[in-house]
Amino acid sequence: MDIHQSLHQILQAKDRLAQLFYEHFLEKHPELRPFFAKVDFKRQQILLTTSLMVIERYYAHPTPAVEQYLQYLGTKHNEFRIPVESYAKWTESMLTTMQKFHGDDWSPELEKQWRSAIDQACDLMFAGYEERVTV
Ligand code: HEM
Repeated sequence: MDIHQSLHQILQAKDRLAQLFYEHFLEKHPELRPFFAKVDFKRQQILLTTSLMVIERYYAHPTPAVEQYLQYLGTKHNEFRIPVESYAKWTESMLTTMQKFHGDDWSPELEKQWRSAIDQACDLMFAGYEERVTV
C-alpha cells in the first residue's frame, strides 16, 4: 500500500481515523487538552480528515494553492497559540494511529511516505507562523 491508497482508505472510513487520532493524542498528551476545551470534536474530526487529503496532495503534487492553504493553517494555529514544539507529538500520534487503522497493511515504506508528507506540511505551517498568511 502506498500513501495514495492509504488516503483512499482513510477517506472511505468517514472521520474514523481522526476520531481515533484525537483519542490517542489527548490520552498520550493530557497537557495539550486545554487547547481543545472549546472545540467541537465532530467538526474538528471532519476538518482534520480533510487536511490529510491536503497533506497527501502536496506530497504527490506540490502546487501554490495548497502551499498557501498550509501556510494559512499555520497562521491560524499561531493565533490559537499552538506551540511549535507540539507538532512532533502530533506527528508521532498520527503515525501511531495510522498504523493502528491499517493493521497488516501498514509498512515501514508507508510510514516513511506519510512522515515525509507530514513534515513537509508542518514546515509550511511553520512558515505561516513566521509570516502571517490570511484569506
Ligand atoms: C500537521 C499538523 C496539523 C494539522 C494538519 C492540523 C489541522 C487542523 C485543522 C484543519 C484545524 C481546523 C481549523 C479551522 O477551524 O478552520 C485545526 C484546529 C486546531 N488544531 Fe490543528 N493541526 C495540526 C497540528 C496541531 C497541533 C500540533 C496542535 C496542538 C495541540 C493542534 C491543535 C489544534 C486546535 C486546538 C485546533 C482548534 C482551535 C479552535 O478551534 O479553537 N493542531 N487543526
